[in-house]
Parts: sequence; C-alpha cells; structure tokens
Amino acid sequence: MSLPTSVRLVEVGPRDGLQNEKQPISVADKVRLVDDLTAAGLSYIEVGSFVSPKWVPQMAGSAEVFAGIQQRPNVTYAALTPNMKGFEAAVEAGVKEVAVFAAASEAFSQKNINCSIGESLQRFLPLLDAARQQGVRVRGYVSCVLGCPYDGFIAPEQVARVARDLFAMGCYEVSLGDTIGTGTAGDTRRLIEVVARDIPRDKLAGHFHDTYGQALANIYASLLEGVSVFDSSVAGLGGCPYAKGATGNVATEDVLYLLDGLGIATDVDLQRLIAAGQRICSVLGKENGSRVARARLAGA
Ligand code: HMG
Ligand code: MG
Repeated sequence: MSLPTSVRLVEVGPRDGLQNEKQPISVADKVRLVDDLTAAGLSYIEVGSFVSPKWVPQMAGSAEVFAGIQQRPNVTYAALTPNMKGFEAAVEAGVKEVAVFAAASEAFSQKNINCSIGESLQRFLPLLDAARQQGVRVRGYVSCVLGCPYDGFIAPEQVARVARDLFAMGCYEVSLGDTIGTGTAGDTRRLIEVVARDIPRDKLAGHFHDTYGQALANIYASLLEGVSVFDSSVAGLGGCPYAKGATGNVATEDVLYLLDGLGIATDVDLQRLIAAGQRICSVLGKENGSRVARARLAGA
C-alpha cells in the first residue's frame, strides 16, 4: 500500500501531556501553551478534559483554559469528556468537539473511569445523542490496544469490538491508544488489519506513547496500513495517571521530522513548535522529550 499524501496531527500535549504533572501549572501557562501551538500551525489541539477533579486534579481548570485561549478559525479545540456531566461542562465552556474514552481491557477501564467497558459504552450513548443534537463532534479513544498494565496481552479482536461500538454509536473517528507504549510495528500492522475489517482506515487514528521507543516505528507501520491521523504531544510531554511508568506520547516535533522525510506535508512550523516545547519544558523544569528538538537546540 502506498503512503498517504497528507497527515492530520492531533496535538494532545495540553491534555495528555499535562494531566499527569504533579506540580500545579497555572491557567496562564496552559493558555500560553495552547496559543503557542496554534501559532505553530497545528490544526487540532486537545486543550483539556472535563473529568472528576478528584481523579485528575491537573485538568480542573480546563474551563478557564478554554476561556483564555485565542481560538483561530479552522482550528479544532477539543476536550475529553467521560460522561454527561463532563459533556455539559464542556458545552458550557463553549467546546465544539469532545472525545470519549473507552478501553480494550476491563482492568484498565475500572482503574481509569471506575466502570466496566460495557458500562462506559452505555454512559456514552446519551452523550453522543446530546452531541448530535447540539452539533458537537465526538471522537472516540480506545486505550490499551497493544497491551494493558494490569491484564497484559490484549487480542486485536478485543480492540476491534470496542472500536466498532464507538464508531457505530457515532464517533466520527477512533483513535487507537498504545497507552503503555509496548507495541511494536508488527503488532501495530496486525492490529490495524483486524480493526479495519469493521472501520474504514481513514476513520482510524494512532495514539502512541513512546515508553519503549517504538512510537515512530509504529507510526510508520500505521502509514503503511493507510492510517493518516496521529496523536502526538509537543516535547513528548505526558503519561497516563492510571498506567504506572508509561511515558509521554510520541513528540510532535519528531513526527514532523519523520513526515518531512517521507515527503508528507503538514502546515506546522517546526521551529515555532520547538520554541513552544521549550517554553513549557522550562515551566515544568523538565528536559525536552523530543529528540529532534534536543538535536536542533544543540545545533545538530
Ligand atoms: P466515579 O467516582 O465513578 O463517578 O468516577 P461518579 O459518577 O460516582 O461521581 C463521583 C464524583 O465525581 C461526584 O462528585 C461527581 O459529581 C463527580 P462528589 O459528589 O463526590 O463531589 N464527577 C465529575 N466531576 C467533574 N467532571 C465530571 C464528573 N463526573 C463525575 N465529568 C469518572 C467516574 C469517569 C468521573 C472518573 O473516573 C474520572 O473522572 N476519570 C477520569 C480519568 C482520566 O481522565 N484519565 C486520563 C485520561 S484517559 C487517557 O489518558 C488515555 C488516552 O490518552 C488514550 C491512551 O493513551 O490510551 C485518552
Ligand atoms: Mg494517551
């Protein structure tokens, strides 16, 4: 199969990247990050989440972040919503696109959203109905698609069932999350092959955490399988509070470099993106997790 000619990047740094940070991050710093990402040319930014502040305290100020950012036309500013309460809060904050998140593993579903996979899907039904009525687009995530921190191996058929349900209930795209970053390129190709029996490949996205350093290889494998939407996080920020030891998403800067080398265009300005990553890393007092950013900053 030939490679896609264009790729859409879903920048999840302000949400997946920051949700796991223990230290308080001010609303102003979060707003600045989102505005910097907009200025770098990203067309889709996951800004925050409307989840229980007891479960994920760092996302508590998401409504204020939405109120503070400069929204540009043709850029999607999205939020995670686990239930109706979160959906209503997001709509109240003016959010036009949300994401629901389910898991391919029962144990992870319990740890992450305190219910079974079946219960989570039931919970999403009224949310999707309300979203349809209000013209809010809904994206779906499936976590633990290539392994679970509690259940270990996850069969591709198990992922396919959950992905198919999310798609059937109205999610316009399903993002396949390698939450713990253990998947390999071979696993990724097999997974897409199975999931694509039920969902068109252009309705799938890849969400690779880079814990084992396999994310770029997995993206390349996904491109070969005809997937052309990828979630990534500026400076490789992040991790999941319910997946111990899991590191951040693949760095957006590194994905851009890969795509550039393949002749696949995006409208993102790498230099501006590197500057955005450096700024948030200095706020967090962290080393930049992007290999490309580190190389460029070192003059390589
Ligand atoms: P629960 O305790 O079962 O919920 O949590 P509940 O309905 O029994 O409510 C308990 C309390 O939470 C109540 O408050 C509710 O009002 C409140 P209280 O009466 O105790 O004061 N509550 C809420 N507050 C704010 N916003 C809401 C909300 N819902 C209930 N939306 C719940 C269930 C789903 C709420 C909880 O487990 C939760 O918030 N989990 C969030 C987990 C999360 O955000 N995880 C990280 C994101 S997922 C991820 O990172 C994976 C991904 O990146 C893909 C990948 O990498 O695989 C997407
Ligand atoms: Mg994630």
